[in-house]
Amino acid sequence: MIKNILVTAGPTREKIDPVRYISNYSTGKIGYEIASAAKSRGLSVILVSGPTRLAAPEGVKLVSVESADDMRKAVLKFIRRSDCVVMTAAVADWRPKYSARRKIKKPGIRNIELVENPDILAEIGRLKKKRITVGFALETENLEKNALKKLKDKNLDIIVANRLTPKKSVFGDNVLDVVMIDRFGNRTGILNKRKSKLAKIILDKVLKLRIH
Ligand code: C5P
Repeated sequence: MIKNILVTAGPTREKIDPVRYISNYSTGKIGYEIASAAKSRGLSVILVSGPTRLAAPEGVKLVSVESADDMRKAVLKFIRRSDCVVMTAAVADWRPKYSARRKIKKPGIRNIELVENPDILAEIGRLKKKRITVGFALETENLEKNALKKLKDKNLDIIVANRLTPKKSVFGDNVLDVVMIDRFGNRTGILNKRKSKLAKIILDKVLKLRIH
């Protein structure tokens, strides 16, 4: 039975210098909703979150982080106590190779050299022991094909895939259409749901999966 859950949420910020960073539009909403739903179901919840404007749900242990590296460290610190991990965070895929200690002055640099960030979820998938692992995928094309590839590559139990279209932003409190695919290949389409409702449906499905 799942008792302890770890949820990641929000974007990460990758420093260019003390006043500038690379990030993305993630609001953290779905992760905070999942944390809140898990708390309502009596689970012990750790929420590792990048910078957001949201308040942590009551009774949830919030661990605030900034960069992907910070998030990785926090996840690895708390993972042993968790029998379920739900990674909703929009971890920045790249970070500047060098981050300046002082503010870069004009005319300054023209190019920022980037290096790849660690894939936290893939790492968790590799060290997986009796733990349900859930990933999210946001795609603009080939949604299911890419989601299935992530499910396999990252050794997940469930992947929740949502499509990003120019008309329908997934950022903020919108109504979403997602497809959930589990490790047995079962697909569940969840259409037109607000993130609060969606979080409950996802969590119910996760709690029904047996830890293997
Ligand atoms: O970025 P990508 O589409 O591969 O993200 C899929 C899943 O992997 C998400 O659940 C995300 O939280 C996680 N992820 C991660 N560390 C990264 C990139 C993604 O944990 N560096």
